[in-house]
Parts: sequence; C-alpha cells; structure tokens
Amino acid sequence: MGSRPPGMPLVAANWKMNPTNIDDALDLVRGVMSVARGQADKVEVALFPPFLWLTAVSEVLFESGVKLGAQDTFWEMSGAFTGEISPAMLKPLCQWVIVGHSERRLFVGETDEMVAKKTAAALSCELSVIMCVGELADHYDAGTSDQVVSAQVKAGLASCSADDSARLVIAYEPVWAIGSGKNADPEHAYKTMRLIRKIVGEMIGAGAARKVRILYGGSVKADNVQQYVELPLCDGVLVGGASLVADEFAHIVKVTAEVYGHR
Ligand code: PGA
Repeated sequence: MGSRPPGMPLVAANWKMNPTNIDDALDLVRGVMSVARGQADKVEVALFPPFLWLTAVSEVLFESGVKLGAQDTFWEMSGAFTGEISPAMLKPLCQWVIVGHSERRLFVGETDEMVAKKTAAALSCELSVIMCVGELADHYDAGTSDQVVSAQVKAGLASCSADDSARLVIAYEPVWAIGSGKNADPEHAYKTMRLIRKIVGEMIGAGAARKVRILYGGSVKADNVQQYVELPLCDGVLVGGASLVADEFAHIVKVTAEVYGHR
C-alpha cells in the first residue's frame, strides 16, 4: 500500500468565516493551544482564521509551535487589486496558506489557473501551501472522480518543481463530503490519495513527491478521524466545522498523534 513520506502529520483547522468576533476567536485559539502545544513534537497543527483575526491570533500563538495560515491569497505581491491580500503581506504573520478551497471555486469562481498562480506566488514567498482538490457529487456519482481530481492536481501544480515539495500539501476534499456530515469512505479516500501521489510523482519526480504531504478533508470529526489518519498514504487532515469546537479539535489532534506515534 506504500509508505508514509518523511515529515510530521499535519492537522489543519480551516475556520472559514468564523468566529464573527475577535473575543470568540481568541477563546477558540486559547482552547486549542492548551492541547496542541503539548503535541507539537508529534503533530504539526496549523490554524487558518479569517484574515482579520490573523494578527491577534499570531500574538497568542507566539513561540508555541502551533502554526498560522491564511485561507486564501492573491497571486500578485502588490498593486491595484482591490480587496486582495498578497503572499508578501502574509509572510510576516503566517507560515501557511490554503489555496483552491472548493468554497472559493464555487462561490467566487476560482479557476484551476488562478489556483496555480496563487500556489506559485505563495511558494515564491516561502509560505507552505495547502492546495485543495476534490470532485463534486455529480462526478462521484458518475464515476469520474479520478479524472476531475487528476486535472485539478495537474493544473494547480503547473509551475511547481521538486524544490517545492517540502512546502507543498495537497488536501483531497470531496466537495460532497464538506460540511455535509457525509465523510468519504476511507477506501475511496485512499484510492484518490494514491492517484494524487502518482500524478505528483509524474510532475515533479517520484522522490520529491514522497515529501508532498496529502491530507483528507470533508466532515472530519473526533469520532471518524482515526480511519483516515490510519491510511498509509494519509499525512493528516483538514478540518472545517469540527475545528470550531476546541475540545473536539483537540481530540482530533490527540488521535492523530497517537496513530502516527505507533507507525
Ligand atoms: P468540514 O470542512 O470539516 O466542515 O467538512 C472541511 C473543509 O472545508 O476544509
């Protein structure tokens, strides 16, 4: 079934457009920190709050070992791009950025080409990138998940090279599993992650591809995370809804630490 690449597992918390006030955001980060800090040598934990909360959250996280990321970025560094935030602006605060989340593809029309430009721009600023890919329910029902995911990976990594591998993560998130409570069957997740690893290998070389971490995302909860992190090719999880409840997210981090500690 293949072996896990070197590097720690990653548990990423995508807060999306939550919480809606800074006091709740700070409560959440403090709750998560009380557990995540103790696991920092076993699991890499990265929090992705809304842009507006990044500065305040970064102050709480300072020197804790828990990483900070943005949920999106633009592909230019500065200029006349109203409303956008560049990787150069994020770099002093963040180690990570998410690109190509399905909600951005769906609600703001983000294309594979934009995802590729964002990925390249973020990597050029030495940010680590979680690039999200995943098929819609229609594709899944029609049995075309592989084609859809392959095309997204190929397009999104168009400008990447072997040198980027250690800072590149691909999150496989079937769109029908996101926020729906219908988490993917682990066998389906495994097969798709294996395909992703193969395509990345064809693009940047098999050796470098082993350093690219691959996550599962889509209705991950404390009571189902184990079946994903036990998969041989799974390097962690991207968590949405369950990352907004400090105790539940902390449990996800602990389960991940336990599973990887036994490998
Ligand atoms: P969910 O979201 O865990 O709420 O399904 C995952 C994501 O969108 O990254």
